[in-house]
Amino acid sequence: MNDKQDQIKFDRLKTEHLPEVAQLHIIGIKEGFVGSLGNKFICRLYQAMIESDQAFGFVAIKDSRVLGFVTCAESVWGVYKHIIKKNFCKLAWAILPKMFRWYNIKNTIATLLHPSETIKNLPPAEFLSLVVDKNFRRMGVGKKLIELGRDEFRRRGIKQITLTPAEDQHADEFYNALRCKLVGHSQKRGVLLNIYIMEASDGEGKKNGA
Ligand SMILES: CC(C)(COP(=O)(O)OP(=O)(O)OC[C@H]1O[C@@H](n2cnc3c(N)ncnc32)[C@H](O)[C@@H]1OP(=O)(O)O)[C@@H](O)C(=O)NCCC(=O)NCCS
Repeated sequence: MNDKQDQIKFDRLKTEHLPEVAQLHIIGIKEGFVGSLGNKFICRLYQAMIESDQAFGFVAIKDSRVLGFVTCAESVWGVYKHIIKKNFCKLAWAILPKMFRWYNIKNTIATLLHPSETIKNLPPAEFLSLVVDKNFRRMGVGKKLIELGRDEFRRRGIKQITLTPAEDQHADEFYNALRCKLVGHSQKRGVLLNIYIMEASDGEGKKNGA
């Protein structure tokens, strides 16, 4: 491990990380409908996830700067429900200036309908977003963030996790390297998604010295 990697620390996603996380999300996720709703909305959304007991996230930090993050949900619908129930007004306020664009109205509806567009019987637990700053890629940061998420899912009794990166994110080699299994494709708002499943028990043996 070189110096640059050595100083990278990992932590739970917290409110203080959100402005930098939102920025990374906007830059890193090109398919990005959520990104198109702006920094304020993403901060509100991720704050609601921090407050939900069905969601969690991790960040990579160097010199007090966030250089990567992952967000995870036990059930995306469970998290949406929590968010709508507890944070509807705050989120609506954050989204309002952007909401009157027809493109965004259509996409909000499509996002809420997302489960009906995808293949059936996927594990409800999901990795939602993962981004590593361009200057820190290929140093094992993405892998470590996914491993932290996977370990937390396992602690919560979850056996399998779904991942749905947009095909044009070109993240396939990354997911293959993490031994995720490609199980199909789906379309969301005209964007082709690859659907992977990860076993939460992967890596457990390694940790136990097996
Ligand atoms: C995908 C992403 C998170 C990977 O993060 P990362 O920190 O660079 O990944 P890691 O260094 O942990 O890579 C682990 C392994 O995955 C594979 N891998 C990662 N990026 C790769 C690439 N661009 N090309 C080929 N293989 C790659 C390699 O096998 C790598 O191991 P190695 O470097 O020892 O060969 C990062 O490229 C990114 O933020 N992309 C933009 C956002 C995105 O696509 N997010 C995922 C969908 S939401």
